[in-house]
Amino acid sequence: MSAWRLDRYLSLSGERTRSQAVRAVRMGQVCVNGEPAKDPARKVTQDDRVTLQGREVPLSAWQYYMFHKPAGVLTAARDRRAPTVMDLVPPALLHRRVLPVGRLDKDVTGLLLLTNDGALAHALLDPNRGVWKRYRAQVSGRLTQEDAQAFARGIALEDFTARPAELGIVEANDAQSVALVRVCEGRFHQVKRMFQACGHEVLALHRAAFGPLELDETLPPGGFRPLTPQELEALRRAAANDRAKGEG
Ligand code: URA
Repeated sequence: MSAWRLDRYLSLSGERTRSQAVRAVRMGQVCVNGEPAKDPARKVTQDDRVTLQGREVPLSAWQYYMFHKPAGVLTAARDRRAPTVMDLVPPALLHRRVLPVGRLDKDVTGLLLLTNDGALAHALLDPNRGVWKRYRAQVSGRLTQEDAQAFARGIALEDFTARPAELGIVEANDAQSVALVRVCEGRFHQVKRMFQACGHEVLALHRAAFGPLELDETLPPGGFRPLTPQELEALRRAAANDRAKGEG
């Protein structure tokens, strides 16, 4: 079984930096199994109960959260003019240095993953892993099978050619249409630009799924929740698939 120095345990949990953890131990703020700890170098395992100022500190170096991004919020660290996702992140998660995986535009709603697991985030965003993102798009004008074929071929944009994507038309009339779109890339304004290239303006865009992960319908806009172990396992499997077909 793995064992960690107590100060390292506290820093891995995201509660304190290593030097703050040493100070907290020296100040008698840390208990192990109910006994005040004296030595920051003492070893603890996952079976030990560590508390900091009376509050339990579970060891979970890596944190994974689902966030229902509302409209009007930037996917950025800080901005002077508009609220950002990081403004909405609870302080406990900020301590753990979680960051969004990729970006959603300010007006776009839906599923945003937050984690401090940089390796998994990187893999999930790598187009070669084929992790699909599914969006519900409301667009101007009537979508047709020609649009679906253009998406399936891969659309040439100004700076790159989008990889083949799926466009499933849900409703179509002359004024507006609704579609489900699956893409395995996340370039700047990608979905909006793909529709624009086919002559349709995106009126609303919502991300409903990221790989195997579906946005939890019970999560209100602005709400967070940790991923379940099953969700995390599915996400890891999706990220491990090089050039895979993806899921979701
Ligand atoms: N495509 C876009 O155009 N915007 C997003 O935020 C995500 C995908």
